[in-house]
Amino acid sequence: MPGTILIGAQWGDEGKGKATDLLADKMDVVVRYQGGNNAGHTVVVGGRTFRLHLVPSGILHPHIITLIGDGVVVDPGVLLVELAALEAQGISTANLKVSANAHLIMPWHKERDKLAERYLGSNKIGTTGRGIGPAYGDKVARLGIRVQDLLDPKILGQKVEVVLRERNPLLAKVYNRLPFDAEAVVEEYMTYAEALRPRIADTSLYLWRALRDGKQVLFEGAQATMLDVDHGTYPFVTSSSPVSGGALAGAGVGPGEIQGVIGLAKAYTTRVGSGPLPTETEGPDAEVLSTQGAEFGTTTGRPRRCGWLDTVVLRYAARLNGLTELFLSKLDVLSSFDRIPVATAYRIDGEVTEDWPMTQTEVHHAEPVYEYFDGWREDITGVTRFEDLPRAARAYAEAIEKLSGVPVTAVFVGPGREQTLLRESAGDARGTVAGKSGKG
Ligand code: IMP
Repeated sequence: MPGTILIGAQWGDEGKGKATDLLADKMDVVVRYQGGNNAGHTVVVGGRTFRLHLVPSGILHPHIITLIGDGVVVDPGVLLVELAALEAQGISTANLKVSANAHLIMPWHKERDKLAERYLGSNKIGTTGRGIGPAYGDKVARLGIRVQDLLDPKILGQKVEVVLRERNPLLAKVYNRLPFDAEAVVEEYMTYAEALRPRIADTSLYLWRALRDGKQVLFEGAQATMLDVDHGTYPFVTSSSPVSGGALAGAGVGPGEIQGVIGLAKAYTTRVGSGPLPTETEGPDAEVLSTQGAEFGTTTGRPRRCGWLDTVVLRYAARLNGLTELFLSKLDVLSSFDRIPVATAYRIDGEVTEDWPMTQTEVHHAEPVYEYFDGWREDITGVTRFEDLPRAARAYAEAIEKLSGVPVTAVFVGPGREQTLLRESAGDARGTVAGKSGKG
């Protein structure tokens, strides 16, 4: 069972790019299974910073085959720009394949995303404006156009024609926008078709063969558990399934192929966009988290909302994803605090619960119940072994392990690859994926 799933355990931006990079040495294939270029994965390698949106982070390693799976929505123009930028930085992109079944983000999806947000006014989701929701909407409504349609200009032309017959009147009459010209759209997308043709593949079949041959496959999640369309803080979510179950459907593999599920959690909490964030903090503490953690969106540059670690959320993520390990990122950002609050439960209308609430109304009423941990007030960015962390920092990580019920097998103390502390002895975690990565 050589498959490992890596997912965000909070609201995204937990450091999945760095985690993928860390695991890369032991991987043969890295596959993205959902989302699109709403994601922003920052990876720092040898002092160079790479910002990836659609391309799996494994691309930075020449031995890895990277796949954009069936469940991803692909903006082909954006993909080509990202590939060209990587090539310009000396990174070969020859090993990237794109699923024929992945759906394309079309110009009307991007337009609709922005218009819908404008019309929602103060109820807006705060999307990334990349057309993600409308593209998934059309997929489910069976009005989507897929990567494989780029291989057949006649079919592409017919599909664009059919969709625009339905969409153009809506754009013109409801939103007072100019209609799209089908011929111009087809012409634009045929230029993408030429460039992408050699990369289009049956990625599910490719994965099946790779797994049969004992290759190590990493399923690289984008966004995170609390942004999942079914299990997150709906409607303030993305339109795909970032949870581990989504990896199977989105990549086209069966559950028997999976040996472990790694959750990524920041040592505190952030979220971009609207929606509940029970442990959100404001004032000087938020300022410190934001500044020390450089909490600005990789994709949109928006400031991220900041708060304390929420172990109600971590337990929910552990349950939903079947987490077998937890990586704890950005522990160094907490070095400036004397006392660090961690939410262990919520008080909702007088009742205390340790479980994520059933309804949106309860989530809105939830007040965190905090336990306070000692700070360490020491720069830990140069520490190279978990055992060498200040006692209070170790106690913090160990408490998270207990409160989440998942062994913390790696702790990040900075963005660099070398700023990673492995804990092979964590709980019963011997033989974990972190341990096998041989780094640290
Ligand atoms: P969409 O995915 O662009 O539709 O945006 C829906 C919600 O998900 C918004 O709150 C976004 O800020 C959030 N979101 C989407 N992608 C990411 C991500 O990669 N990191 C963090 N938040 C994200």
